[in-house]
Amino acid sequence: MEKKSYVKPTIVRHSIGVMNKYGRPPATVPMSRLAGFDVKELVAQYGSPLYVLSVNQLRQQYQNLFRAFSTRYPGTRVAYSYKTNYLKAICSILHSEGAWAEVVSGFEYDIARDLDMPGDKIIFNGPYKTREELTRAFTEGAMVNLDNYDEIQVCEGLADEMGKKLPVGVRVNMDLNNPPWHKFGFNIEAGHAYEAVKRIQTGGKLDVTGLHIHVGTYVDDVNIYAAAARGLVSFYTYIKEQLGVRLKYWDMGGGYASHNTLNWAWQSAEYTCPTVDQYAEVICPILLNGPFGSGDVPKLFIEPGRALVDEPISMITTVVAQKRLPGGKRGVIVDAGMNVLSSVQWYNYNFQTVQDSGVTVEDTILYGGLCMNIDVLRQSAALPPVRRGEHLVIPHVGAYNISQSWQFIYLRPAVIAVDDGKIHVIKSRETRDYVQKMEQVPDEFQTYRTVNRK
Ligand SMILES: Cc1ncc(COP(=O)(O)O)c(C=O)c1O
Repeated sequence: MEKKSYVKPTIVRHSIGVMNKYGRPPATVPMSRLAGFDVKELVAQYGSPLYVLSVNQLRQQYQNLFRAFSTRYPGTRVAYSYKTNYLKAICSILHSEGAWAEVVSGFEYDIARDLDMPGDKIIFNGPYKTREELTRAFTEGAMVNLDNYDEIQVCEGLADEMGKKLPVGVRVNMDLNNPPWHKFGFNIEAGHAYEAVKRIQTGGKLDVTGLHIHVGTYVDDVNIYAAAARGLVSFYTYIKEQLGVRLKYWDMGGGYASHNTLNWAWQSAEYTCPTVDQYAEVICPILLNGPFGSGDVPKLFIEPGRALVDEPISMITTVVAQKRLPGGKRGVIVDAGMNVLSSVQWYNYNFQTVQDSGVTVEDTILYGGLCMNIDVLRQSAALPPVRRGEHLVIPHVGAYNISQSWQFIYLRPAVIAVDDGKIHVIKSRETRDYVQKMEQVPDEFQTYRTVNRK
């Protein structure tokens, strides 16, 4: 009889997770269906990995946010922050709910216009806007928020060319967070914002009709918004008195958190993520105390991104391998990488099993499928046993992952939208032809082929 080869034994600590009201730890509650469809069937039809949008949930997110702010401040407008996820189907759904477009580049501006958003329902932000983009935005009546002195100068030139005074918004920032967000606009505390507004008003070619602030992203401390709103009110009061500025709008930007837990958070987002009502409750009453009467109430804009699209999109992945690390910890490799889930830099995503694997969990490191050491999707997750070919669902992946994805060694996944029991492909899986379409190999570089052919 042949002698069996030696296999090194491994001792692994398994644990029974903390029970919840369903009697199981959350990661082990099988999520066999997503948006009403069987996960395995979705993969069989559309491939893995796969992004899945629940249209109904997206609409509800919008309606809830709009309700929270518009019931507390008359004339609130929600301008969806395109950069969060500018798939045309997603922008269209939000526009059909009433959202305006908030764009930060000519590329995004074009998407909004392609979707028939009229110019006067587009807010144009961002630190880099070309002269041509600004000309178009002013011609089409978009709201342009200025970021720096160079832009002020370009816009004054445009006002001369167009032969009229142009209305502009001014982006301001304040010392609100640590580290502070000073990149965008002019700082109030340092006096830069006042200087900029004075410079614009005294130039006589532009007219300041708006103030814009964006306090950060995933800001789960509502006090920061309260401080920002107070800062805007006192700044408006001052520039109204000193410079005669009359605001048509103020814009509180985005940054509202979603139900995802940050990597460094002590508590799960379930307990720390404010509700949209809590945000609205601190912002609106403060702004309503601004220096205006019932006849000249500035419009309130908010520019949510993450809070609208993060939660309605999930990703389905497939386990491709597992291994033991030297310390005995289990590593599981899935077929999606950080190139299509870039928010793993910030979030401890939940990885949810699809099949029923029991309640025994093991501490697991989740690796993406990229051949890069940094491609770790989660350092530590309590997961039940999983096998190659089984699926995992990652909820709440809709913000930034698609718009910030990069193509690297694999083709990027499809995105499907589930609406009232119907599935629509809103972005097809990439093909190699598509990825390499812009490439050329000049004849001179083809010597290897020629040599080999001989
Ligand atoms: C000007 C502006 N508005 C809105 C947003 C949307 O932010 P969030 O997705 O955090 O809501 C951003 C993103 O950073 C932004 O730069």
